[in-house]
Amino acid sequence: MKGILLAGGSGTRLYPLTLGVSKQLMPVYDKPMIYYPLSVLMLAGIRDILIITTPEQQQNFKNLLHDGSQFGIKLSYMVQEKPEGIAQAFILGDSFLQNEPVALVLGDNLFFGNDLINLISQARKRLELTGGGEIFSYRVRAPERYGVVEQDEDGTVISIEEKPKKPKSSNAVVGLYFYDSTVVQYTKQLKPSQRGELEITDLNQLYLENGMLRVSNMGRGYAWLDTGTHQDLHDAGSFVRSIQERQGLQIACPEEIAFEAGWIDQQLLLKQAESFKGNLYGEYLFGLLSK
Ligand code: TTP
Repeated sequence: MKGILLAGGSGTRLYPLTLGVSKQLMPVYDKPMIYYPLSVLMLAGIRDILIITTPEQQQNFKNLLHDGSQFGIKLSYMVQEKPEGIAQAFILGDSFLQNEPVALVLGDNLFFGNDLINLISQARKRLELTGGGEIFSYRVRAPERYGVVEQDEDGTVISIEEKPKKPKSSNAVVGLYFYDSTVVQYTKQLKPSQRGELEITDLNQLYLENGMLRVSNMGRGYAWLDTGTHQDLHDAGSFVRSIQERQGLQIACPEEIAFEAGWIDQQLLLKQAESFKGNLYGEYLFGLLSK
């Protein structure tokens, strides 16, 4: 399975912060935002990842993440000329995907929870066995800001609507999607919506109509945060700070995930730690070596 990390968009709700820098490079407490969704793909065991950015900002992402070898992964880069929708990622990524299944994560989404690795690993396994699409829902106070899933008592999906004025449930679709290799073909059938975007909700609708969409609920034991507004960004930073301060463990440290998975060895981890010598992140990496 391959991964796509979508880190384009205009970030207009965060202006003036995002006039000069991409939203996904903004700090969420002590790390660039993109570390959080990148870590989710890595936790799902995905090592071949395409990062899609705006043309202006691609170099900044490369300066930050390079070719990914420091995390034991392979990163490729591509630009999206204009923010023409989340589903456009699959058309842009066609040649990268080479008919493999894919996990797409939005570059401004943050996930946290005890059972997260299990939840996403199971979704990945199910998808690799049976094909189709796997998405997740999460209860939110303001569902009208998101794609909203309506399910019957057995959990069967009845409808998915994008930013409905009158949401039929409180369950929003989160920014992490798993699809089989038909995704490119399905996306090519989509027409731009009224706002001129290839909508991920329309893609999910296609999978649903073909009886190939599964929705798992991320229950109240998980945190799903996005960082679209100033308040969201501040809340996400506070959340990360509180948990890290309390536990002394990092949320979304790609070096740690790679080391635990055996993708990088002690020598490479030491090299990374030395490059951050004198700061807390570096200390944390040195600590991993003496565990
Ligand atoms: P949004 O938050 O919907 O859009 P945005 O980031 O451009 O922000 P704003 O609404 O404030 O202008 O996007 C969700 C995520 O998907 C975000 O990480 C940006 C990314 N995205 C793209 O990379 N390309 C796109 O065409 C769209 C629509 C979103």
